[in-house]
Amino acid sequence: MTDFLRVRDLADRLPDLVEVAHRAKADRNFGLGHLAGRQIGLFFELPSTRTRVSTEVAVRRLGGDPVVLSGSGLGVGTREPANDVARVLDRLLDGLAARVTDHRTLEQLARHGDIPVINLLSDLEHPCQAVADVATIAEHRPVADSVVAYVGDANNVATSLAWAVVALGGEMRIASPPGYGPDSRELPDGVIVLEDADEAVSGATAVYTDVWTSMGQEKERSDRLEAFEGWTIDLARFRLAHDDAIFLHCLPAHRGEEVATEVIEHPRSVVFDQAEYRLHSFTALLLELL
Ligand code: CP
Ligand code: NVA
Repeated sequence: MTDFLRVRDLADRLPDLVEVAHRAKADRNFGLGHLAGRQIGLFFELPSTRTRVSTEVAVRRLGGDPVVLSGSGLGVGTREPANDVARVLDRLLDGLAARVTDHRTLEQLARHGDIPVINLLSDLEHPCQAVADVATIAEHRPVADSVVAYVGDANNVATSLAWAVVALGGEMRIASPPGYGPDSRELPDGVIVLEDADEAVSGATAVYTDVWTSMGQEKERSDRLEAFEGWTIDLARFRLAHDDAIFLHCLPAHRGEEVATEVIEHPRSVVFDQAEYRLHSFTALLLELL
């Protein structure tokens, strides 16, 4: 069984996943009944709107049964060690998708069980988001012909996006203020790393940003607000991109911080298409892994 903890786990299958996601979007009945009789755990240690709803809807549409588990209810590592939880869930479920504070929890769940484990966001990656993102980008122009500029905190979303864009042959740029750039060991070869937002956005066909303070970093918020001053994607900056560039954000967004209202509400903002693709791309992932 394959797990999907990082984009690189399925990099060679990304073209298929994107194609299936497009087909699932076009046909509401796509894959109907394919997961009949399968029990899929959906485990959340952190809050969620898009991921929580899209995963449950995808499992239900495919005819499977979602089993929703909360972080406090399961108490991985507090109530019970991760390896015991993994071995129990392995006997009871056919697959497990989990959003965790610490990526090592996912690795332990995957290592001690045989069922597929899917990362629904960790501190290191947000791979399901990246599948939705490249499916969204591909609606506008092939990812291989795209220049994707991620501006802001080089976080879980940026890392997963970089792997997905590079795997599909696109150009990936990441620009962050000093101290908030990517760990090059976490990135694929070929990513252009910058410390200048305007340089990153210039000529890009897709401009992406995410919050400056991710879940679990709330104590750093005031330091981060200071460090990211001047890094907002505002209209002037967005205009440096290609004439038909699209704007992406995984959401939730903080208007007035990483993105100006006029950009997130711009006619070329595709943030709600991305949110919808969370459903279609998770459908594709379930079909691929189960
Ligand atoms: N983009 C995303 O993962 O949103 P949620 O945190 O609401 O699931
Ligand atoms: N980088 C954000 C993404 C939320 C979907 C976080 O980890 O909180």
